[in-house]
Amino acid sequence: MIRVGIIGCGGQGRIHANAYARIEGVQIVGCCDVLPERAQELAQPFGATAFTDHREMLAQTRPNLVSVCTLEGHHAQHTIDSLRAGAHVLYENWTVLQSQPSARMNSHTANSASSSVTPYSSNTVWRWLKPHANSW
Ligand SMILES: NC(=O)c1ccc[n+]([C@@H]2O[C@H](COP(=O)([O-])OP(=O)(O)OC[C@H]3O[C@@H](n4cnc5c(N)ncnc54)[C@H](O)[C@@H]3O)[C@@H](O)[C@H]2O)c1
Repeated sequence: MIRVGIIGCGGQGRIHANAYARIEGVQIVGCCDVLPERAQELAQPFGATAFTDHREMLAQTRPNLVSVCTLEGHHAQHTIDSLRAGAHVLYENWTVLQSQPSARMNSHTANSASSSVTPYSSNTVWRWLKPHANSW
């Protein structure tokens, strides 16, 4: 079972959640947003737990995979914290264009024994994830 956490429950977080819900063997375990009602609204239909603090979500739900669906200024920190928690990460590809956060994330990925970071395009999440669903 792949346990998924979603950080940022706006438009992209919802797209990711709906993509994960289509894959057998994937369970959304945590949804985090600084706006509690957004986290709750996304978490409830999937039987996931809502959080307003992503570190709390990582510690309590121990996801194997995290979708970072916050805005660009948060991507690096949310990705690094997720890697530190031992999760694979899908994050918004715009950050790749920003050298400083990208370098920070790359250095943490290099130090992470088993986790990977994949920049995503929201429409390809489902297609990207499906072939991996049975191998993790
Ligand atoms: N690839 C695409 O087609 C595509 C399309 C639209 C947006 N995007 C990108 O996706 C990302 C998210 O965009 P969106 O449209 O979903 O934005 P959004 O504003 O709808 O959602 C972002 C959410 O993050 C939450 N948030 C802010 N700070 C947070 C924190 N510290 N912890 C947890 N949650 C926090 C906000 O409350 C909000 O609900 C952006 O990087 C954007 O550029 C990509």
